[in-house]
Amino acid sequence: MGIQISPSLLASNFADLAGEAARVPNADWLHVDVMDNHFVPNLTIGQPVVEALAKSSSTPLDCHLMIEDPDRWAPGYVEAGAGSVTFHVEAADAPVRLARELRGQGARAGMALRPATPVDPYEELLPELDMLLVMTVEPGFGGQAFLELCLPKVRRTRELADKHGLDLWLQVDGGISADTIEQCADAGADVFVAGSAVFKAEDPSAVIDSLRAQAEATLEAS
Ligand code: DX5
Ligand code: ZN
Repeated sequence: MGIQISPSLLASNFADLAGEAARVPNADWLHVDVMDNHFVPNLTIGQPVVEALAKSSSTPLDCHLMIEDPDRWAPGYVEAGAGSVTFHVEAADAPVRLARELRGQGARAGMALRPATPVDPYEELLPELDMLLVMTVEPGFGGQAFLELCLPKVRRTRELADKHGLDLWLQVDGGISADTIEQCADAGADVFVAGSAVFKAEDPSAVIDSLRAQAEATLEAS
C-alpha cells in the first residue's frame, strides 16, 4: 500500500469538521479520535458526529476509539460509516472476537497499544488485524511530545509482521511531525497520524505532501 497519511481532526476546528476535512483533500484517511472521558481523561465526539462526517466527506474515516468497552461500542462506528476502526487492546475484553466482528462488517480492524503495552504478547493475534497502532504519546490529548521510547516497539511489530508474512499496516500516532516522521518510517511504520503538525499549519495539505515525501524518501533509503 505504501505510505499513508491520516491527519487527526482533533487539532482542527470542531465547529466546522466538514470544512476542515475539505482542507486536506490529499489525505488518505481522516483520523477521528473518539474519547469517552473514562479510558482517557478527555471527551470528544461519538457516533452521531462520525456518521455526519462520513456523509459529508469522501475521504474514508479512520476511527481511533479511546473508550471503555469497545466490544460493545466499536461495531457502531462501522455502521456510522468508518472504513477503519481501531480499538485499544487494554480496554477490550475479547479482541479476537471484536476484530473478527469489525472485519465481518466490512471494515478494516485496527488494534492500538498504549506506550507501556508491549506487542509481543499479541504476536499470535496479529493475523486477525488489518492495522496495529503503536501510540507514540499517552492517548488523550493532541500536541504532546513524541515518545522516542516507542520506536523499538514499532521496529518489533514490523519484524513480527514480516515473520508471519502479514500485510499489516503499522500506524503511529502522537507527536508526528517533520522532526519525527523519518525515525518512525525507518522503524517500519507506514500509516502516519498527525494532528497539530497538519491542522495548526497555514497550509495543511502542503504539510501532508511534505510529510508523505519525507516518509517515502526514508522508506526508499532503508
Ligand atoms: C491522541 C490522539 C492523537 C492526536 C495526535 O490521543 O490519539 O490522534 O490527535 O495529535 P498530535 O499529532 O498533535 O500529537
Ligand atoms: Zn488518535
